[in-house]
Amino acid sequence: MTAEIFHPATYTRAVPYDRFVELRRTTPVCWIEEPAVGAWPAGPGYWGVFAHADVKRVLRDPDTFSSHLGGTQIRDPETSGDLDFVRAMMLNQDPPAQARLRRIVAAAFTPRAIRRLEEMIADRARVLVDAVLPAGHADFVEVAADLPVWTLARVMGVPDQDRRLLYDWANRVIGYQDTDYAGLSTADAEALSPLGRAALAERPASMTRPDGRPLNPRSRVGLADMYAYAHGLATAAAATDPAAATDPVATDGSATTDGSADADRDTGIVGRLLAEGLTDAEFENMFFLFAVAGNETLRNGIPGALLTLLQHPDQLESLRRDPETLLGPAVDELLRYWPPVMQFRRTATRDVTLGGRDLRAGDKVVVYHASANRDETVFPDPDRFDITRSPNDHVSFGFGPHYCLGAHLAKTQMRAMLGQVLTRMPHVRPAGDPVRLTSNFQNGLKHLPIRWD
Ligand code: HEM
Repeated sequence: MTAEIFHPATYTRAVPYDRFVELRRTTPVCWIEEPAVGAWPAGPGYWGVFAHADVKRVLRDPDTFSSHLGGTQIRDPETSGDLDFVRAMMLNQDPPAQARLRRIVAAAFTPRAIRRLEEMIADRARVLVDAVLPAGHADFVEVAADLPVWTLARVMGVPDQDRRLLYDWANRVIGYQDTDYAGLSTADAEALSPLGRAALAERPASMTRPDGRPLNPRSRVGLADMYAYAHGLATAAAATDPAAATDPVATDGSATTDGSADADRDTGIVGRLLAEGLTDAEFENMFFLFAVAGNETLRNGIPGALLTLLQHPDQLESLRRDPETLLGPAVDELLRYWPPVMQFRRTATRDVTLGGRDLRAGDKVVVYHASANRDETVFPDPDRFDITRSPNDHVSFGFGPHYCLGAHLAKTQMRAMLGQVLTRMPHVRPAGDPVRLTSNFQNGLKHLPIRWD
């Protein structure tokens, strides 16, 4: 029975690490069935890749394992039009086309560029914790959820008051396998900018089609409001002077922590994209990529990290004693142990042998970061959570040409939020059972009740 590896419901309970151990030992490249899930039809099946070395081999060789041929999600785009559309996203391209798009935005994500945002992110984490501190308890998923969207709004050049839209779009796309998230709308029209309100009016009235089939959230029609917003924002940015268009501080009218308007100048992605003259489809897809990639991953990754620490009180205590030294390596170990993204897909461009199996051109190939991170040939005692683990060659941010562009930004946010918990929530402990997201893609938490003294 390999279908359980695919089935989203498996992950509602837990990541199937025991099955991964077995598969790495017996069939490290294994054919996985893809049955129908609810109203979603069955797929043809795919090769699951579970060993660290094979995962890296696939990810470093886009000529053989393409992101472009069939996209990077297990589920095939529904129509050739949907496929063409997602292919305009750099995530779903291969070098050299992907490299061209990546170069346009890369400068906004270098360690140096991210260091300039560090203080602002730390301040925001402090504000979020301040808001719940007197209560002595909270759902940590809600506490953490605002930091990624708030940060992203600044990096992208989205007005602050519209950031809830980013949250809703990411839920729609990533959470479609979970009935709690699929069509969720949390944005309050009153709180939105006129641009945000106009977009809300374009929102699909229902995520179910008249014949009962679910609307594909990764399609133009499934995200009509997001694209309307992206274009509205572009028009507004182009109407301002070019410097303002590349400056999210000027765009949203708020001040940075040091009060200077240029502290994070040249991080406004929308401005950058405009200056480079992307096609409409490229622009829309880049907006989509950042809205989702920089958001849902951390909304799951930050609570996942705290849950991991709560489950390992000795490690939590060591970290609390010396966060200065240990928080950096701890964040990498947390990402290894709780990979927010569990898998990504490629498509074989030619017949090829991998892990002793003969793959045919056109086969789907899905690498499991969650399994590679526990590969006993790379990580001694892989199920032991050790915040001092070194080296730590985890693949939670991927590998090769698509290595996560937001890795530094992600780690900065994780350090900021966990730093607040460690220093300001004494004796933090669980206050109820965590609730997992139903998804075979994101290792997600919907609720993490905690208390502190
Ligand atoms: C802990 C949080 C995060 C995790 C675990 C994560 C994971 C990943 C992974 C595994 C990939 C590779 C996809 C592939 O191989 O096809 C990726 C790509 C990407 N990530 Fe992240 N990500 C995180 C946060 C972020 C953030 C905060 C941003 C931006 C604000 C971001 C932006 C991107 C982009 C733009 C790509 C595509 C890069 C390309 O196609 O060249 N990610 N991410």
